[in-house]
Amino acid sequence: MTTTTRAEGVLAMDTARIEVAGERPYPVLVGRDLLGALPETAEGATRAAVVFAEPLRASAERAAEALRATGMTVLPLAVPDAEAGKTIEVAARCWEALGAEGFTRTDVVVGVGGGAVTDLAGFVAASWLRGVRVVHLPTSLLGMVDAAVGGKTGINTGAGKNLVGAFHPPAAVLCDLASLATLPAADLRSGLAEVVKAGFIADPGILDLIERDPRAATDPASPVLGELVTRAIQVKADVVGVDLREAGLREILNYGHTLAHAIERLEDFTWRHGDAVSVGLVFAAGLGRRTGRLAPAVADRHAAVLGLLGLPRTYRADAWERLAAVMRVDKKARGATLRFIVLDALAKPAVLTDPSPDLLRAAYQEVAA
Ligand code: GLY
Repeated sequence: MTTTTRAEGVLAMDTARIEVAGERPYPVLVGRDLLGALPETAEGATRAAVVFAEPLRASAERAAEALRATGMTVLPLAVPDAEAGKTIEVAARCWEALGAEGFTRTDVVVGVGGGAVTDLAGFVAASWLRGVRVVHLPTSLLGMVDAAVGGKTGINTGAGKNLVGAFHPPAAVLCDLASLATLPAADLRSGLAEVVKAGFIADPGILDLIERDPRAATDPASPVLGELVTRAIQVKADVVGVDLREAGLREILNYGHTLAHAIERLEDFTWRHGDAVSVGLVFAAGLGRRTGRLAPAVADRHAAVLGLLGLPRTYRADAWERLAAVMRVDKKARGATLRFIVLDALAKPAVLTDPSPDLLRAAYQEVAA
């Protein structure tokens, strides 16, 4: 298990530093005013392509300034926001711009924005010259605790979401907590579903912190939120540090996600990912309880903690047949059996393979409204 340490040098004393292990270990910094650390992550590069969406232009310009100050040439690449940017056309425009600038293997791509922008920036970096360095500056809670860490990059195509991509771990991830202050409250809350997930699969201290002060957990100015972000990233770092390519352990990060993906599809991706994960976590807790693996008190704690944060815990009662059909199609597309992550106890995840339709329907009753 890796450990969180305090950063030194140009950064504030309360900056946390998490090391992600692997072929090329990399740091994730969590704190405020982290741009002082950016030039070091780009060391050796003469060009930096800063990929950003319009709402984050000011943050991207600050990052660009920090890089220019070291003599680097900066290529700003504005891309459409959110999922609209995760297309082959946008990636192609980025490749053309890199080509025009003479971007070499020692240069660096910097992704500034939410999960969609860092997914795209990572994909462009993974594919340009078969892989150049990428540094992520995630600005959303979901981006910090999930998308930017772990090296999954990708775009969406007509065949589906995230089916085209590559594992391409970043060289560094800088999570500036100040960016959470301008995040819409609903996006902040939604991102906390992934934090709660991390609490159940690996770090129950996260759950204690939320239960002790749920208001602080949703307050961007509170040190509690900073600690939650750091702990959730630590959970992810511990997992992806030993299983980058999802050959085993990484699957536990999908706790609550099988149903969540089906809800997102049924809602035509208009639901926030974390909101769908929240319902999926309550469903997964129901599966654990009904298979006799999970103590009822721990199963009940899922809906209780998510409720403290104002996250959704129910979905339409009449949707079960359609959700089950989507999950079956998804399973077929991936050539796999239907698998759910369940808990045997707090922080003891396990895989449940092809549960019976009756069991699934019964667990759905726990979220049906
Ligand atoms: N979001 C799940 C993973 O990174 O594996």
